[in-house]
Amino acid sequence: MSLLDDVTRIESEALERIGLADSLDALKELQVRYLGRKGPLVSILRSLGQLADAEKKATGACANQVRVRLEEEFAAAQARFAPAAAVESFDPTLPGTAPPLGAVHIANQVMDRMCRIFYGMGFQIALGPHMETDYYNFEALNFPPDHPARDMQDTFFLEGGRLLRTHTTPVQVRELEKNRPPIKMITPGRTFRNEAVSTRAHVSFHQVDGFLVDEGVSMADLKGCLTAFCRAFFGEGLKLKFRPSFFPFTEPSAEVDIQCFLCSGKGCQLCKFTGWLEILGCGMIHPAVLEKTGHDPERYTGYAFGIGVERVAMLRYGINDIRLFFNNNVRFLRQFV
Ligand code: DAH
Repeated sequence: MSLLDDVTRIESEALERIGLADSLDALKELQVRYLGRKGPLVSILRSLGQLADAEKKATGACANQVRVRLEEEFAAAQARFAPAAAVESFDPTLPGTAPPLGAVHIANQVMDRMCRIFYGMGFQIALGPHMETDYYNFEALNFPPDHPARDMQDTFFLEGGRLLRTHTTPVQVRELEKNRPPIKMITPGRTFRNEAVSTRAHVSFHQVDGFLVDEGVSMADLKGCLTAFCRAFFGEGLKLKFRPSFFPFTEPSAEVDIQCFLCSGKGCQLCKFTGWLEILGCGMIHPAVLEKTGHDPERYTGYAFGIGVERVAMLRYGINDIRLFFNNNVRFLRQFV
């Protein structure tokens, strides 16, 4: 057998093994074995000196051709394993890309906290529709048609005499219709008003209303309930002030100011140097509301109150623009996660 025969044998053997190689490592090993400095082709090229001129030329040319061919075959075979090589280079210890997680919105967080406090005081939680009728939003709450009190609560009027509720007090009417005293409930949820959007007003916001109807309920019960709530929410020992006010569905009506929790009543930016912060409306449920919902006002009395969620949240967290609650600015929302 001549050296030339050896070269062709080496070529076909190498090609066959390249074809069978099942990993990048196996391929690399073959490459070193056949094309490395100690490989058969190199040793053949080294021993050419022993040959006669003609044979030397033919064998040398052939060995070089085979070397080039095998180099090409190795390169092509390596490409077969390229995707696998990428997987092999996957590093599980590198930090991943975290998908952005949602969180409870600050308005809902505050509303949940208010609900938990009232729930702990024995209030049931009732929900109602955002789309209401004039009857539940106004009429049953003792706003007569054309009464100027309606001007305070302009809203979005829909087809068929429907409207977006301006407060969650209509849920009070719905629950009074369905239940017999004692009834003790809060009605949290979203409300809507046709307002020029500004730092202090928005077309949509949230309220937590509450009420208790039973025999012998008095204004003293209302004061005790709201004092307990405000102290649980804003802090122990907080002082409250009940100022006479007007709502068509309560008589008497009051607005509650709490002592400014930031300056303890001394006067600061937050309370505009008055020492007090207005936080809610309340009163004794008007006999007309009890009567309209099927309860004898001679026998039953009740109190009610309504708290603006964003207003409370703004005071609590020093937020100076109500629009921040609704424009989905993640940098704002993230502060409350
Ligand atoms: N519904 C009133 C408003 O949106 C707030 C309110 C005041 C609710 C007195 C009540 C209440 O239940 O008794 O302005």
